[in-house]
Amino acid sequence: MLIGVPTESQAGETRVAATPQTVGRLIALGHEVTVQRGAGERASYPDEQYAEAGAALDPGPGVWGADLVIKIDAPDEDEVSRLRPGAMLATQLSPAQRPELLEALAARGVTALAMDAVPRISRAQSLDVLSSMTNIGGYRAVVEAAHEFGSVFTGQHTAAGSVPPAKVFVIGAGVAGLAAIGTASSLGAVVRAFDIRPETHEQVESMGADFVQIDLSDQSASSDGYAQVMGEDLERRAMEVYARECAQADIVITTALIPGRPAPVLVTAQTVDAMRPGSVLVDMAARNGGNCALTEPGKVITTHSGVKIVGYTDLPARLPTQASQLYGTNVVNLVTLLTPDKDGQVVLDLEDEVQRGLTVTHEGEVLWPPPPVTVSASPPPQAETPPAGAAPVESTPRDPRRGYVAMGLAAVLFALVASVSPPSFLGHFTVFALAVIVGFYVISNVTHALHTPLLAETNAISGIILVGAILQVGNEDLLVRCLALAATVVASINVFGGFAVTGRMLRMFRREEAA
Ligand code: NAI
Repeated sequence: MLIGVPTESQAGETRVAATPQTVGRLIALGHEVTVQRGAGERASYPDEQYAEAGAALDPGPGVWGADLVIKIDAPDEDEVSRLRPGAMLATQLSPAQRPELLEALAARGVTALAMDAVPRISRAQSLDVLSSMTNIGGYRAVVEAAHEFGSVFTGQHTAAGSVPPAKVFVIGAGVAGLAAIGTASSLGAVVRAFDIRPETHEQVESMGADFVQIDLSDQSASSDGYAQVMGEDLERRAMEVYARECAQADIVITTALIPGRPAPVLVTAQTVDAMRPGSVLVDMAARNGGNCALTEPGKVITTHSGVKIVGYTDLPARLPTQASQLYGTNVVNLVTLLTPDKDGQVVLDLEDEVQRGLTVTHEGEVLWPPPPVTVSASPPPQAETPPAGAAPVESTPRDPRRGYVAMGLAAVLFALVASVSPPSFLGHFTVFALAVIVGFYVISNVTHALHTPLLAETNAISGIILVGAILQVGNEDLLVRCLALAATVVASINVFGGFAVTGRMLRMFRREEAA
């Protein structure tokens, strides 16, 4: 299949959908690639590098006549008319907002793959351009804030005096928010953050920020990785907290978004007025209407009280080299999925939920919206531990008497065993009983984030059991032999099963080697 990479035509767009490195990987999948001359120039990828990677260079028309055209931004009317009927197009299309564009692509007979409609599930993460672009946007938001801020981020003690670290408050801890938290923390700022999804509490803390406490007990965990609308009472409490936190912060970064809705206005004009002169607010949601009432999309403004509000809508394009590399890698991962035999033949499988999710037009038909994909991005709500400070979720309390009865029974059983066993057995049995109790409490209290190391640990323990069991297989006592055999089987399942699971997890992160 011939893959075409055109120069982006939208004003201010600096990115390109393929870099010399990703071109090499596309060719390794059996495809041919043609790149429009100068397509990568603004992202610091000169034509010669594409040629060295094996791409043909084209002044323009050849690129648009390709079997698959890969792009960053949605095509304009003229570009749609240049696409070959029956060709494929992979680009960002904002399908929910652009029904007329989908109609035009369907009428042209183009199979359009919306790179920004990849379902947010683990298997599709490697194709998810929204995540990779937003991640880099979150980083750039902090860089823009640092540029506008008149002081340093990290605290310093110098001969000329001490400087306190900057205080950063991040609203919304999705992809952009977490990237902003990580960047601001690594620059030495003191970071606080809030999100209405209770499951983000742990993620915020793992990135080095303090989670701002609001009682979230009436907000349920999300089932698809995205937020749900807040109740009125929670909204009022949250607005009070935003006002208080913004007044104390030097930098505020807002990233709040509920899919399919305009951005919620969380920072009012009064809240901005109460911020210190010289403080900076970066509103990442500017394109969707803004989380701040005063944001002007695409601009930096200074309010009458001296607060700077950054409303840039092109943050990833301000890091074009890296953004193009990430976007290009997402495209390669998509093309890999579409080329199962790595033979340059594309096979679109609409039974596959990922491919179906991003296919928005096919054979003259508009296929948007796709059937919903619900994959739990978090543990089910009833299993969720409420964040500190939140009201506990009500559940039927356990009858404590059952615990006492169980303990009593265990003590009687232990006394019975002790009365008939030799002293050496009793010692082993006590160690065994204690190990069971300690093991139960340790393992049941391990947080989800540490389950992978826990798996490795239990594998190691199973290895020890396996060695012990093998040593006992030749024992004269039939009971010991049976126990040893059972232990060998169970421990082997854990060891080999653990290897299989770990191998599968590693494969999810492994890049296909370029041939
Ligand atoms: P996301 O969906 O991963 O995260 C949004 C977060 O906001 C969610 O965690 C959600 O729970 C939270 N949220 C929703 N309502 C809230 C509220 N009232 N209070 C606190 N938190 C709330 O979205 P993602 O991918 O992180 O994108 C964030 C925003 O950044 C979007 O508006 C996106 O369009 C924008 N963006 C802007 C760029 C730019 O150049 N300015 C570049 C990339 C993304």
